[in-house]
This record gives sequence, C-alpha cells and structure tokens, in this order.
Amino acid sequence: MANGVEKSRILVISGPNLNLLGRREPHIYGVMGLEQIHENLKRDAERAGVEIEFFQSNSEGAIIDKIHESIGRVHGIIINPGAYTHYSIAILDALRATQLPIVEVHLSNLARREDYRQKSVISEVAVGVISGFGPYSYHLGFLAMVQILRELAAQHRIQRQTFGAKGEQ
Ligand code: DQA
Repeated sequence: MANGVEKSRILVISGPNLNLLGRREPHIYGVMGLEQIHENLKRDAERAGVEIEFFQSNSEGAIIDKIHESIGRVHGIIINPGAYTHYSIAILDALRATQLPIVEVHLSNLARREDYRQKSVISEVAVGVISGFGPYSYHLGFLAMVQILRELAAQHRIQRQTFGAKGEQ
C-alpha cells in the first residue's frame, strides 16, 4: 500500500491487570484475552503494511523503560495504561518525552464508571482517546493511528516539495 505508512512501526502497550483479560470482570472488559487482541492487531498491521509490536507489564517502571526504549525506533504508541491512566504522571512524562503520536485506548467506557476513573492524566498527550468498545477499542485505536501516520507522512511530503529536502526555503 503506497500511502506513506509502509515502513512505520507501531508499539502497543497494555498496563496492569490487562494480562488477565478474558478472565477479569468479563462483563466490563469482555471475554477476549490479550493474546487474541494482539493476534487480531497483527492481522490489521499486515493488511495496512505496517510493523507492530506489543508490550504488557504490571509495573510502572517497566512501562516507562519500554517507552524510553521506543524513542527513535517507533512512529506511534497505542497505550491502554490500565489503572495508571488515573494517576501516573511518570507515564505521562515519558510519553510526552517521546514526542510521538499517542492514541489512548480503554476497553470500558470510562465516562460510565466510578468517579475515580473519570480523570485520565494521560489524555493530555494523546491525539485522541477511544473508550468503551471492549477489545474492539484496540482495533479502532489502530485504525486511528494509521490515519494519524498517513496524515503526518502527507504533511512531510508537502513540506519537502515546498521547501526542499533539507527544509530550506
Ligand atoms: C481500563 C480502565 C481502567 O480504569 C482500569 O483500571 C483498567 C482498564 C480499560 O481498558 O477500560 O485496568 O484502562
């Protein structure tokens, strides 16, 4: 697919307790396990012609290390920070430091849940948030990320055409 995203690499991060998907509160989070979600995303990625990789951790430090390690290596991050959504300024700072496009996803619709889930400290660095579609939120997040990367590639193309390869006027 010649649309500017072919060589893009997308990192998908899932935070604490998401390794229990399928068994954990299925009436809220659905019956699909994280491995199946990843398999589905792999197929999405093949179809779109992009590279994709996955990371899940229950530890804030490990998530931050992974975000740091992705700098200069991936083109966008899709993240479900789990409960860290609501209080991890450290993950927020790490995401901001990457200067990458970020898509925040949640299986459940946070707006319909407890008061302590109403605030996401992560959203201010996200291009957008997808929340409430169960495992399908990851798929929608992927589609959104591909669209963002296409748009950025198109902007770079126009910049190169207008100002030359080195961005000179
Ligand atoms: C979640 C929502 C969070 O509030 C919760 O702590 C999670 C999952 C979601 O995907 O709906 O672990 O991020």
